[in-house]
Amino acid sequence: MAKLTIPEIKSKKEKITMLTAYDYPIAQIVEKAGIDILLVGDSLGTTVLGYESTIPVTMNEMIHHSKAVRRGAPDTFLIGDMPFLSYQISTEDAVRNAGRFIKEAGCDAVKVEGAHKEQIKAILKAGIPVLGHAGLTPQTATILGGLKVQGRDLSSAETIYKDSILLEEIGCFAIILECVPHQLTKIIAQKLTIPVIGIGAGSSCDGQVLVTPDILGLVSCFKPKFIKQYLNLNSQIEDALNKFKDDVHKDKFPAEEHSFKMKEDTLQSLKEKLKENNNGQ
Ligand code: KIV
Repeated sequence: MAKLTIPEIKSKKEKITMLTAYDYPIAQIVEKAGIDILLVGDSLGTTVLGYESTIPVTMNEMIHHSKAVRRGAPDTFLIGDMPFLSYQISTEDAVRNAGRFIKEAGCDAVKVEGAHKEQIKAILKAGIPVLGHAGLTPQTATILGGLKVQGRDLSSAETIYKDSILLEEIGCFAIILECVPHQLTKIIAQKLTIPVIGIGAGSSCDGQVLVTPDILGLVSCFKPKFIKQYLNLNSQIEDALNKFKDDVHKDKFPAEEHSFKMKEDTLQSLKEKLKENNNGQ
């Protein structure tokens, strides 16, 4: 499948599939499965690096993982997620760090959380496509009252609506709407001409994005309501590791088929040589 272009994504107002990846093997599988868009999310922090939130994630960590994902999925549209404080301080920072995703990691676009008008405009002016992100923005979860549904009350629904329109107006090619009531999503998706990709935002979106370790059941601790878990990899991996341990303890591994063989005459020669050497000492 050919990599989507920005004009193709902008006009795809239906059924966009998007998943996160943080490493080479998962990126390879995502590409093989024909998923439209790959995101190296800053969820890297909680799903792979063991941080308590996305806040500690650094640009260098994001670049390191984005490079691996690009190597695994050379033909999939790839977005790098701008981590906390990589764009908030200045437009210069925003452009420099967005540029790193493109130049060093081979990403096709970046994602910015929140309606940071000046920073997003500066990144776009540098020629880098931007995916917007409204609703629940985990990097500012403390201000929003935690990782919880946004837009349930009038004032927060209005803010999310206005932010979404602003993100389209300043030139984002699509937006992510995270954790908002499905009725609000419907209003926004009907209003915007660019695609609205939802996570916990209901079925009226133009596409869906999920965190891959969540749908594979790899991370056992946190399971929000909006996740559909397709596998229970965590327990499948634990079973496999226990079987390996048992096999070693019970001398069932390695079996003959896992071992390498030396030719019988080479073995005999080796034994004789060692014997001679030992006798000579
Ligand atoms: O970091 C992330 O994984 C995200 C989600 C929207 C999927 O931002």
